[in-house]
Amino acid sequence: MKDLPNVGDDGLFIEPEVGTWSEDKYRLVSLYASVFTKSMRGKFASLVYIDMFAGPGRVQIKNTTRIYESSPMNALAVEPQFDRLIFCEQSDNRMAALKARCAKQYAGRDVRFVPGDVNANTAEILRQLPKHYACRAPRPSRKGSARESRAANHETVRPESSARVVRRNGAVRNSTRYSCRSATAGFSRAAPIT
Ligand SMILES: C[S@@+](CC[C@H](N)C(=O)[O-])C[C@H]1O[C@@H](n2cnc3c(N)ncnc32)[C@H](O)[C@@H]1O
Repeated sequence: MKDLPNVGDDGLFIEPEVGTWSEDKYRLVSLYASVFTKSMRGKFASLVYIDMFAGPGRVQIKNTTRIYESSPMNALAVEPQFDRLIFCEQSDNRMAALKARCAKQYAGRDVRFVPGDVNANTAEILRQLPKHYACRAPRPSRKGSARESRAANHETVRPESSARVVRRNGAVRNSTRYSCRSATAGFSRAAPIT
């Protein structure tokens, strides 16, 4: 794992008083993110990083002079790069500092900002995903499989695979498997990991 450079004060808002365990968190998240982009690059049309509790992008470890870049900036630094990054933050001054840091340090990258309470912004996050990520939910069949009903309820589903199915009588039909993992499907409320 890489060492965290002490990046110092850049004059923008810095999250004060962060615990020392965050140092491990930033190393591990960076390592995991780079393993992810290395292994997934080429397997999907694009790779998207979503930080639902982004913070201002820079933190100071409590009772020390150690100042580090935090998770959104670490995600921007990952190689190979994410194609798009979506940062959510409800605090105005943290969001303003994060935007300024992204503009200064990563101009030209595809970064989307979703201000406000992330729990109220699921639809906006889904809108910010590249278009090929989402498709309209299929109408449930009359019997309605559980997957189809869930897909219909959550509006946004992703095609998992598509296949041509040849029946014994020679009839051919197209079959698409859908997975429904909209942000509202898996959990009821999101909470930050500190
Ligand atoms: C632990 S901090 C920053 C975490 C950051 N990802 C990091 O690792 O440095 C959590 C951030 O989430 C923001 N936050 C907390 N609840 C939120 C919510 N419901 N919606 C959006 N942001 C939220 C806080 O304002 C704070 O900046």
